[in-house]
Amino acid sequence: MSQPLRDARRYEEEKARLIPPQDRPAFHLSARVGWMNDPNGFSFHDGQYHMFYQYHPYDSRWGPMHWGHAVSADLLRWRYLPAAMAPDMPYDREGCFSGSAITLQDGRQALMYTGVSEELGPGGELKKIQTQNLAFGDGVDYRKFEGNPVITAADLPEGGSRFDFRDPKLWACEGGGYRCIVANDHIGEGGRMLLYRSDDLAHWTLERVVAENRGRLGLMWECPDLFTLDGREVLLASAQDMLPVGFEYHNGNGTFCLLGHRDAAGGYVWERDHAIDYGIDFYAPQTVLTPDGRRVMIGWMQNWDTCNLHVKSTPWFGQMSLPRELRVENGRLIQRPLRELEALRGEAVAYRNVEIEDGELSLPGILGRTVDMEIEIEPAEGELFNRFAVRFAKDAEHHTGFSFRPRESVVKVDRKFSGSRRAIIHQRRAKVDHDHGRLKLRLILDRFSVEAFIGDGEKVMSATIGTDANARDIAFFADGKARFSVRMWTLTV
Ligand code: FRU
Repeated sequence: MSQPLRDARRYEEEKARLIPPQDRPAFHLSARVGWMNDPNGFSFHDGQYHMFYQYHPYDSRWGPMHWGHAVSADLLRWRYLPAAMAPDMPYDREGCFSGSAITLQDGRQALMYTGVSEELGPGGELKKIQTQNLAFGDGVDYRKFEGNPVITAADLPEGGSRFDFRDPKLWACEGGGYRCIVANDHIGEGGRMLLYRSDDLAHWTLERVVAENRGRLGLMWECPDLFTLDGREVLLASAQDMLPVGFEYHNGNGTFCLLGHRDAAGGYVWERDHAIDYGIDFYAPQTVLTPDGRRVMIGWMQNWDTCNLHVKSTPWFGQMSLPRELRVENGRLIQRPLRELEALRGEAVAYRNVEIEDGELSLPGILGRTVDMEIEIEPAEGELFNRFAVRFAKDAEHHTGFSFRPRESVVKVDRKFSGSRRAIIHQRRAKVDHDHGRLKLRLILDRFSVEAFIGDGEKVMSATIGTDANARDIAFFADGKARFSVRMWTLTV
């Protein structure tokens, strides 16, 4: 084992012990110590789920990328394993960037990732080159492949940038052989996704361009995932430098999915796109196929533009989203909280047909910071209300809110009063389909986050909050007259 990996393992072991469990999310995976970004190598291997992640153990800010590692039987209760990789080879000295994992026929686990190295440019400047690399291991310890790098600039199609060529998502094909999809900057045109094939993992050939940006969705694309679901082809991707498009896409980094089919020649025909998450904090999602056939997605629950504003001394920074079961229904990617979450529920507290008019009310037993809550909202009499809101992580000074304005068909997540002292994005809005003011909502609160599943999972809004854990109240608000039913469970791990 290299000295950098040995050092990282010793450091994380020592420092993570000092972080009390109640200072972390209860059932969302967070950095063992230091910094976490993208989920990597999300896979089921040797009887358990593995999640690796972009990791800089020595600081709560982004830095030379390692791969952190955790395992779980239910995707909710995670156990940390020692860091899997450190930047310790000439081809990844500047970082082991995002990638994926599969199980080989001989039982080993293969990791495929982007190595970043430096090259001297013509003017003497240092430029960072990205190549695709492999490591093999037993589920705990990994050895980087002697034949690395396995995909380089030489394998790029015309116009491809070797500086932006990353995040391979690897899978084994049913008929034998392997495929991987890699993000690349097509110089002057923006991101595109490239599909490669291989018989032996060591030698790769470009098969086709799967999707091209052509300046529509941001600039560079990152972190592709490609699969068939409910008879449709699905491409998940994350885009940098987006411009807003109505309420669909927002400024900055964002996620999108493309839905389509394959033509007779095997090419991908994309018919539509939409955002994956409409909240503030969600990026770089990756999926796994569970042994019982569910396609489950986890994203990094953060936002690149705001993630360096936390207090530098916090011992950990970065958490993953809830695992979400995916479906394609009526031309949309549908997300529902992983069904295993229901096993964490205690006794239900329920109220039916509560009337609320021009003000706020709270209900005995409806409170807490690790909560699963289903709400059905409807107009009290024929007339539409102006606004209905749920406020949580609440005390006299703080709250975070989710609100619904049926007249405008808009929902909003708002963390302005969450205790944030920074001039960052605190609100995001999305368009919502509803039946004359009737709307279903499921809110999942963990200690430092909210994820709102709207309708039957047609839209999701995720946001992190830093509110003190003692702010545990939940209240309902209406402008106008509304009626709602609520069922709430405390979630305990
Ligand atoms: C996305 C990303 C990836 C890259 C990684 C580096 O969030 O920029 O494209 O591999 O983060 O940490």
